[in-house]
Amino acid sequence: MSDIENIADELQKQIMAEVKLKYSQKVIDSWQHPQNWGIMHHADGYAKVAGPCGDTMEISITVKNATIKKCTYDTDGCGPSIACGSIITEMATGKTIEQAKKINQERVLAFCGGLPDESKHCALLAANTLQCAIRDYKNNKRAPWKQYYRSP
Ligand code: FES
Repeated sequence: MSDIENIADELQKQIMAEVKLKYSQKVIDSWQHPQNWGIMHHADGYAKVAGPCGDTMEISITVKNATIKKCTYDTDGCGPSIACGSIITEMATGKTIEQAKKINQERVLAFCGGLPDESKHCALLAANTLQCAIRDYKNNKRAPWKQYYRSP
């Protein structure tokens, strides 16, 4: 290993040690290896929401027999928002719509082992986006043709 590679390796270790002091292993894993990344076109429900920080998240869901079969997301936000998006897709998949409607910021925070105060709004962004995607699903049920005129 060259000197520069050794310095980069040592720096990486220091950064990870600091990250581990602030974030749970669940958050770190979900941040580094996000699940269900991407947006489904013509999904049964879709939403794009901006958080208080200005970052956005998108969530799409497919629903069968009132149960969320697939839930995917995308975000242009921070590491914790990448983690919260991944986590909320895990939490929502397999839930009935009624169960998924109860997934809020507090539940995301409990599921992921908590977040530092400055990152708690990232869990709120994920929860708000899921709830908007569920509302979109309900609206589409009333007027199914509308989903073909929205983006994506
Ligand atoms: Fe904007 Fe985390 S979502 S800082």
